[in-house]
Amino acid sequence: MAERIRIFDTTLRDGEQSPGATMNIKEKLRLAHQLQTLGVDIIEAGFPAASPGDFESVRAIAKTVKGMTVAGLCRALPADIDRAWDAVCVAESPRLHTFLATSPVHMQYKLRKTPDEVVRMVDAAVRHAAGHTSNVEFSAEDASRSDRDFLVRVFTTAIEAGATTINIPDTVGYAQPEEFGALVRYVIENTPNAHKAVFSVHCHNDLGLGVANTLAALRAGARQAEVTISGIGERAGNAALEELVMALRTRHDYFGLDTGIVTEQLYPTCRLLSMIIGQPIPANKAIVGANAFAHESGIHQDGMLKHRETYEIMTPESIGRTRTELVLGKHSGRNAVKNKLEELGYRLEEDQLNTVFDAVKQLADKKKQIHDEDVEALVLEEVYRIPD
Ligand code: KIV
Ligand code: ZN
Repeated sequence: MAERIRIFDTTLRDGEQSPGATMNIKEKLRLAHQLQTLGVDIIEAGFPAASPGDFESVRAIAKTVKGMTVAGLCRALPADIDRAWDAVCVAESPRLHTFLATSPVHMQYKLRKTPDEVVRMVDAAVRHAAGHTSNVEFSAEDASRSDRDFLVRVFTTAIEAGATTINIPDTVGYAQPEEFGALVRYVIENTPNAHKAVFSVHCHNDLGLGVANTLAALRAGARQAEVTISGIGERAGNAALEELVMALRTRHDYFGLDTGIVTEQLYPTCRLLSMIIGQPIPANKAIVGANAFAHESGIHQDGMLKHRETYEIMTPESIGRTRTELVLGKHSGRNAVKNKLEELGYRLEEDQLNTVFDAVKQLADKKKQIHDEDVEALVLEEVYRIPD
């Protein structure tokens, strides 16, 4: 039987930390409702101690969304934890998410703490959070650059103190899939009380490996994935929700893992986010880009017209798009032009089709993409031309 993993969406927290992606409270609420429709399990609504505005929006989201857990991020400090609790406590299912760095470089230069002091802080912070709720997540910031046995020590302490989710972030997107999978497996196998917590990963995309590292971690036993819509987030962003979910679905034979995501809502959700933050989805973006289901070369178009599985591993409908676009351009074949003409309502004789096909090719040398109006103009010009 396939196992179900949890999708933890942090678009409203880590995603909002992406340059130019700030959202106002109304926009955050709109997106939070869409995330509910999408079927995410946990929504990280923000960082309540960061600003009064963040506090208000986390509280408003916590009050209104239903059927999912609402998390608030907080540093490993009592005042931060209390502030986050005041914001999320009104949720149907609140979660406190506290974090502390565990890598040598962060402990020495950022925290100026010894490893022993860090362990003591983790213990105190998680105990403090667990005093508010039994749903506590602990993240070891920069885990992928931390000593693995130190991570085991930190996680053993966090679980003992009451953490029920343990997150292993690749904070700076440094990890490599095999290596990251091995780290996750090592930590799960060597943390004595690991069975009392759900292990999670949170992968950044600095080397373009956010989704690959997340998938490797799921293969190694992680059961929560922290992701963002369209992969927005700090620097190069986070693992993209839509890519992860469709990889798991399309290669279910390989992963054997399910999510609760309504995949038909993926495209509408990415479009909504793009509209809210005013950033277009890149044309070549996997799953949701304009070209993700477009086929321009003649060979591909011909294959698609014969059987869509020749060049499509998932249907556009499965992610909420309407149909496959056959874009006419200089690589398009005769069959694609014929198909486009039929779609536009033209049934041409063979010689008329040849004439239009030649005209399309000539136009395509001057123009990158041929739109429906161009095809109609060419038919009028070449086939139905009224002689002078
Ligand atoms: O990237 C990171 O380490 C984080 C943590 C706060 C989870 O965003
Ligand atoms: Zn992050």
